[in-house]
Amino acid sequence: MLSGQDTISLQQLEKENRILKKKLERSQADQSKLEATNYNKESLLKNVIGELQVSQAILEKKSSDLKQAFEELTLMRDKLVEAEKMSALATLVAGVAHEINTPVGTSITLASTLADETATLSMAVAQGQLKRSTLTDYVEIATESTALLMANLDRAGELIQSFKQVAVDQAILEHRTFRVKEYLEEVLASLGPHFKKTLHTLVLKGDESLSINSYPGALAQIATNLVTNSLTHAFESKPLGTICIDVSTQNGKILIQYSDDGCGIPPENLGKIFDPFFTTARHRGGTGLGLHIVYNLITQKLQGSIEVRSTIDKGTHFEILLPLSHLPLFGESSRELKCS
Ligand SMILES: Nc1ncnc2c1ncn2[C@@H]1O[C@H](COP(=O)(O)OP(=O)(O)OP(=O)(O)O)[C@@H](O)[C@H]1O
Ligand SMILES: [Mg+2]
Repeated sequence: MLSGQDTISLQQLEKENRILKKKLERSQADQSKLEATNYNKESLLKNVIGELQVSQAILEKKSSDLKQAFEELTLMRDKLVEAEKMSALATLVAGVAHEINTPVGTSITLASTLADETATLSMAVAQGQLKRSTLTDYVEIATESTALLMANLDRAGELIQSFKQVAVDQAILEHRTFRVKEYLEEVLASLGPHFKKTLHTLVLKGDESLSINSYPGALAQIATNLVTNSLTHAFESKPLGTICIDVSTQNGKILIQYSDDGCGIPPENLGKIFDPFFTTARHRGGTGLGLHIVYNLITQKLQGSIEVRSTIDKGTHFEILLPLSHLPLFGESSRELKCS
């Protein structure tokens, strides 16, 4: 039999038990809610990670596509530059025709004036009416016309000669093994007369033993054109200039570094100097073919490359890279026969 005190304690215990049960139920509900939220968050995170991985893969593909596109573009740009220089020959032909037109046209006019004057004189002689003054006038006109004729025909001849150098001479040059520095020494010696009346200095440095199997004639032409340019352009208003040529090797190729400490080339002209007919010296008889010939000889005949750097009032620097050995291109020997 329970006492009244015991009944109260039991009731108290049952109450506490109910409270605890409820608490337990609530915390179980909270836990399952938490678990559900966690599950949601986890799956969300998994989704996000999955999406990120897909985006990363897409980005990687895009960046590799871009890299490839960039490489293709670089290649295409180089090819375009080459094609542009190749088509320069076509421009050259058109340009030569245009340039020759002036001296030839003037010569035709002069020749026909001379023919008219001569006919008038002959008639006067035939009719026995030749006056002293007519003869004096004729001599004057004939002297003047022939001098102008000579000058114009000379100019036309020069243009044809330059054109021939670009288009044909490149093919008739001899191919052999020679020491680069020694050969350049000979070429520079032949340019001695150009230095005679100047105070300029020419320095040739480098490895004596370096040999190349190539076209010495082309190298001679290149050196001549570069030196002529330094004398006429770089040192135009500089009495004491220095030209330095250094022969060495780089990555198994012959490296010829040519520099002068002259007036330099303005940046806006630097990209044009290898173009046919680009000259800043037309008034002094420049044709603008010198460096075009150099470029064509190096890139086509010698299968090398040329780069230029220049700073105003500091000078100009050309870097020429040539393969040690040059295999004649297919059909080259037959072209040599045809042109010689
Ligand atoms: N060493 C140099 N220093 C300064 N300018 C130069 C030098 N070399 C070339 N140039 C510039 O480049 C231009 C083109 O040179 P390029 O040799 O093709 O023609 P050119 O010398 O004017 O005429 P050409 O050689 O046909 O008689 C020159 O007119 C000149 O402006
Ligand atoms: Mg020149």
